Amino acid sequence: MMDTLYVQTQDSTYPIYIGIQIYPQLPSLLEKNGVTPERKLMMITDSNIAPHYAHRVRNILQSAGYEVGLSVVPAGESSKNLQQVGQLIGECLRFGMDRKSVILALGGGVIGDLAGFVAASYMRGIDFIQLPTTLLAHDSSVGGKVGVNHPLAKNYIGAFHQPLMVVFEMDVLTSLPERELYSGFAEVIKHGLIWDRSFAEWLMNASDSLLHREPEQLQQAIYRGCQIKASVVSQDEKELGLRAILNFGHTIGHALESVSQYRVYTHGEAIAIGMAGAIRLSQRYYGYSFDRVNWTEELIRAYRLPVKYHYPCSIDDLLFAMQRDKKVKSGEYTFVLAKEIGKVELVRGIPEKEIQEVIAQIRGVGS
Ligand SMILES: NC(=O)c1ccc[n+]([C@@H]2O[C@H](COP(=O)([O-])OP(=O)(O)OC[C@H]3O[C@@H](n4cnc5c(N)ncnc54)[C@H](O)[C@@H]3O)[C@@H](O)[C@H]2O)c1
Ligand SMILES: [Zn+2]
Repeated sequence: MMDTLYVQTQDSTYPIYIGIQIYPQLPSLLEKNGVTPERKLMMITDSNIAPHYAHRVRNILQSAGYEVGLSVVPAGESSKNLQQVGQLIGECLRFGMDRKSVILALGGGVIGDLAGFVAASYMRGIDFIQLPTTLLAHDSSVGGKVGVNHPLAKNYIGAFHQPLMVVFEMDVLTSLPERELYSGFAEVIKHGLIWDRSFAEWLMNASDSLLHREPEQLQQAIYRGCQIKASVVSQDEKELGLRAILNFGHTIGHALESVSQYRVYTHGEAIAIGMAGAIRLSQRYYGYSFDRVNWTEELIRAYRLPVKYHYPCSIDDLLFAMQRDKKVKSGEYTFVLAKEIGKVELVRGIPEKEIQEVIAQIRGVGS
């Protein structure tokens, strides 16, 4: 069973194939998208994923006549750097990659961003294909943002480079560590909260089966999540306006990640807490009933995600981090707020006092 979703970008359209046991169809999907066996493939993956899937995928492709190189980088965010880019480019050169060669990014958001950036830079840009292996990657594989970190700033070196196609195999999610699975749901929930109330309600009802990784349900959740992200980015590919709504929960979330030096919370956990903050701020701004806050927090908690932080930092530390965030313009606090569940807007000039009060509310006791 396979779903196909088309993502429209300025210059082209690319497919996302989502399904259960679809890797055996990789050769035919490649052919269909113009990747014939004369084109060399370089698979880039990480040290956790390689033992599970690298050889399986490589064998499938080699049996169909493809020449497939393999580069394995150490697992983790620390591989997303320029030095690693240089090493991977070296491996592409040694493997004899040319303008027609293709990079396969087999992994989560780290590999997607890193391998995608290598593809964007190698010979000024070659094709790449995403084979996502984390739930979070449903988010990172749509939108074409690729890049690496600078020691002074996360995600500051990058490009827009759309993949040729994305093949999302549900089976690979069985080996995903629990904490990574839960974290991935934060972005799925976000897509419901910003765009589609009935999807958010469906997520509330489907939490048991999704947490049990029932593949049909996962496929449905990923399909809708990708579709929502695709609708947003296709209307605003270069982040000039609408795309900012994808930052729902990210203003506080990013501040929390940065204050805790990216060591305490996964991105999803920080965003979960950030969404709890954002819905509280929204409740104050629009003056609706507190039920909506409770409902949202219940949804977040249903996916074993936190709605409060315990990291020992002051409210001012968080405010300071928010001001430094590249998305805060000219010292004004700008937030994506929820007018209702499923509808959000960008609100500028929120008073600092309101934010301080909300941060105090999402601070867990005992911190
Ligand atoms: N480009 C974008 O639009 C975008 C959007 C969101 C996030 N990101 C980036 O994504 C990154 C986070 O991505 P992530 O959460 O997928 O992290 P990740 O790629 O590091 O994966 C998380 C962990 O799970 C392991 N893993 C992955 N798949 C596995 C599997 N199937 N089985 C067993 N282990 C597996 C990895 O080795 C890693 O240790 C960040 O660098 C973030 O900046 C990019
Ligand atoms: Zn995010």
